[in-house]
Amino acid sequence: MVSRNFTPFPILTSERLTLRQLSIDDQQDIFALRADIEINRYLDREPSKTIDNAIHFINMINDHIQKNNSLYWVITLTETKTVVGTICLFNFSEEESSCEIGYELMTKLQGQGIMQEAAGEVIAYAFQTLQLQKIVAFTHNRNQRSTKLLRRFNFLQSQETNEEHPEYQLFTLTR
Ligand SMILES: CC(C)(COP(=O)(O)OP(=O)(O)OC[C@H]1O[C@@H](n2cnc3c(N)ncnc32)[C@H](O)[C@@H]1OP(=O)(O)O)[C@@H](O)C(=O)NCCC(=O)NCCS
Repeated sequence: MVSRNFTPFPILTSERLTLRQLSIDDQQDIFALRADIEINRYLDREPSKTIDNAIHFINMINDHIQKNNSLYWVITLTETKTVVGTICLFNFSEEESSCEIGYELMTKLQGQGIMQEAAGEVIAYAFQTLQLQKIVAFTHNRNQRSTKLLRRFNFLQSQETNEEHPEYQLFTLTR
């Protein structure tokens, strides 16, 4: 694993998408994502209740990026600049040369291969640029869309279960 330096922020692009840094101007979109009941259904997080929650979240994320602790991209459609979701790498481990991946997509934009396209770029960035050996994901055992996405990239489901959260499955992708 190379030493992490996320300044300047690594903007990623693909056929339809631009993955860029989160800004305070994204507060309405971040609020919409984090307050959405459908998106939150299988996520172990406190839903945003006010726009202030979203602003606090944006500042916290950018602070982590500045300290090289984690990476968080806003996924936008390049043509219209519309925000469609987010994807992040966090929980970096030097010892294991690994990190965790997380992602979310606006409900009305699911089913178009957008996350597959975004995740392809982020996984390549983790393996090729950061030189990590392993990416892990924890996903709820009823979260079929997430499980399908992970399997498309050949993430393997571990038999290990987390005693505190037996409903979450560990998936691993190695380089
Ligand atoms: C997990 C999540 C991102 C998956 O979204 P998704 O839209 O199913 O995934 P993709 O964007 O990769 O789209 C794949 C689907 O688009 C279809 N598709 C349509 N056009 C496509 C194209 N051009 N290229 C690829 N796939 C395409 C695929 O066939 C697939 O459909 P299927 O699942 O019915 O087979 C989404 O369900 C979500 O945000 N969930 C809430 C947050 C969450 O649970 N996150 C998990 C954290 S661990």
